[in-house]
Amino acid sequence: MKSANHDSSPPSSRSSRRGFLKQSALAGSGLLLLAAGRSKADDAPAPAGGSDGAVPTNATLKTIHGLRTIHGNFLDKPIPEAALQTILQASVRAANASNMQSYSIVVVKDRKTMGDICGYRGGCMLLYCVDFNRLEASAELMGYPYFPDNMTAFVTASVNAGLAVQTAAIAARSMGIDYLITNGIHRGDMERVWKILDLPAKHCFPLIAMVLGYPTEEPSHQKGRLSGPGMIHYEKYHRLTTSEVEDIVRQYDDPERHLALDEDWKAKGYKHYLDWYFKDWLGDSKPTDQETQMLRLLKRSGFVEPQKA
Ligand SMILES: Cc1cc2nc3c(=O)[nH]c(=O)nc-3n(C[C@H](O)[C@H](O)[C@H](O)COP(=O)(O)O)c2cc1C
Repeated sequence: MKSANHDSSPPSSRSSRRGFLKQSALAGSGLLLLAAGRSKADDAPAPAGGSDGAVPTNATLKTIHGLRTIHGNFLDKPIPEAALQTILQASVRAANASNMQSYSIVVVKDRKTMGDICGYRGGCMLLYCVDFNRLEASAELMGYPYFPDNMTAFVTASVNAGLAVQTAAIAARSMGIDYLITNGIHRGDMERVWKILDLPAKHCFPLIAMVLGYPTEEPSHQKGRLSGPGMIHYEKYHRLTTSEVEDIVRQYDDPERHLALDEDWKAKGYKHYLDWYFKDWLGDSKPTDQETQMLRLLKRSGFVEPQKA
């Protein structure tokens, strides 16, 4: 079975293609502006407001609609400490179940360590972990039994951490700091993350990393998004018709929509972008090895296969 997540295949295949993408999809295609310049996304008008229910223009929405990932490494330039603290304090403002913040954030400033952990280097890296150790310590101190050994705890904490990382992205961009959210931590030998950062084996699971920094080159455009049928459902789940699926395939093919990861897919002989995606991008991934490792570590962390009733 192929992985549904394009960013989760092994580093060997990924890194070469990331390199390729960086060169051909960005530089080779002339899609990058100089670092000194502002991105077109920055200059793009915010969505129009109005009484028709369209998105109103305000600073928050402008930041959200201007969000974009910087792929690859960032300049070797640290994030000012005050800005980092502002991002962290914004990040923990995210909604979270029972206000128990069942995650923790490991801040890494050493560039080599960042590379070893997630495959990318920037001004700073934030590693978001599902983490119940703080709660466990509190329960122990108070003399209460506490066993977060279940999938519900893991899923809930993952939602908490996901909201926190996106909140950090919004905060960073609002201050002119760029980001890359990456699951590079799950590529290769995942145990390295525990070893390098001395993470607890139990009830702590590295979920997602965010590299913060200043780009070496500015992207010339913002990636588009699907937002129609199949993406957003109203009142009830809508099963796509064949013509709606064909329309989705067309949307991916439309260069103006910028939905493609590799904008050179046509030059490589593919009829549709999704041909490239399913054959080339996912084609050589070996999810089985990664899945086995992921499951083993999830079991070790205690979230799968409950140990206490
Ligand atoms: C869970 C997750 C993992 C990702 N992993 C990577 C990654 O390893 N490398 C990378 O260059 N981008 C990664 N991205 C960024 C996505 O490729 C990017 O968000 C997507 O292409 C849309 O582009 P945009 O964020 O610029 O709108 C990841 C994003 C998410 C949410």
